[in-house]
Amino acid sequence: MNIEVRPTTTPRPRPTGALGFGIHFTDHVFRMDYAEPSGWQHARIEAYSGATLDPAASVLHYAQVVFEGLKAFRGPDGGLRLFRVDRHARRFAKSCEKLCIPAIPESDVIEAIARVVEHDASWVPDASSGGALYVRPFVYATEAFLGVRPAKEFTFCVILSPVGAYYERGFAPVKIWVEREAVRAVKGGVGDAKTAANYAASLHAAFAAKKRGYDQVLWTDAITHEKIEEVGTMNLFVAFEDEVVTPSLDGTILDGVTRNSVLTLLRARGLNVVERSITLDEVKQGQKSGKLREIFGTGTAAVISPVGTLGFDDGDLTIGDGQPGKLALSLFDELTKIQRGEAPDPHGWVRRLEG
Ligand code: COI
Repeated sequence: MNIEVRPTTTPRPRPTGALGFGIHFTDHVFRMDYAEPSGWQHARIEAYSGATLDPAASVLHYAQVVFEGLKAFRGPDGGLRLFRVDRHARRFAKSCEKLCIPAIPESDVIEAIARVVEHDASWVPDASSGGALYVRPFVYATEAFLGVRPAKEFTFCVILSPVGAYYERGFAPVKIWVEREAVRAVKGGVGDAKTAANYAASLHAAFAAKKRGYDQVLWTDAITHEKIEEVGTMNLFVAFEDEVVTPSLDGTILDGVTRNSVLTLLRARGLNVVERSITLDEVKQGQKSGKLREIFGTGTAAVISPVGTLGFDDGDLTIGDGQPGKLALSLFDELTKIQRGEAPDPHGWVRRLEG
């Protein structure tokens, strides 16, 4: 892919103080456009700026858009590393297919990400800060057309955001509301694609849970509301005395890259790890009998997020002693060390970059 580079002439101010999540953006953006019949063309790295969008652009009306989220890390050795970019590119391709967005070769997506990260390498937070560069590739329908059909014009972008911890309280256990009315996704829908509609569908229930004093929502299945699906924007793991369980990929939940990494790390430890459905009743019984050890979420943004409390209509259930569990802590440690190049990378997850 030929990428034209037009460096900015007006560098953006650097953030000072806590970075937060998704607030600051770097100097450059990668862009590439699609139109028929020429296909994907005009790959470029240019100054970060807004794009003009026709008010009739179909993304604004019918949400034909998909995105990804991955991270680049600066190690204590100064090296720059991308975590599992190939798996993110594969998932991006699958999401595009589901949303009828013309394919972008996975190698071009990886090259676009690597080149723009290298270009803005000076924005990657230092290892000592615990921060990272969050990379957000996304592709959206720009065609001005109000009929409902796949658009014929698109833009693919990659933007970069230096981030600290996703949750303001850092690794503190989160309070989760068990949602048994609202639904995030249904079988046969788009729940397994990283597309805007899933996040829009989550807002109302998440906002209501916040008002009740909870951090996020635990999504249950759309039919019985008995089976656990996801937590907020994360996949979920439940550790019982004799097995670690995560819901199987049945079409409603996202095939999380951190989920897959955690499964691999747990299996490498020789633990009994099972992908199957988990019911709320099983969790409640496990808490009563003492078999339930801990619950945690996994996602690129938060990495690992321990769950301290589950909120039900009839009251709160404290998980374990309400403190971060040993498994969650050790997985966070193991995964972030691999990401920063502080530990060997036996699974080939890390791609070294220049810069
Ligand atoms: C992730 O952690 O993987 C996410 O998707 C979170 C993002 C939507 C902010």
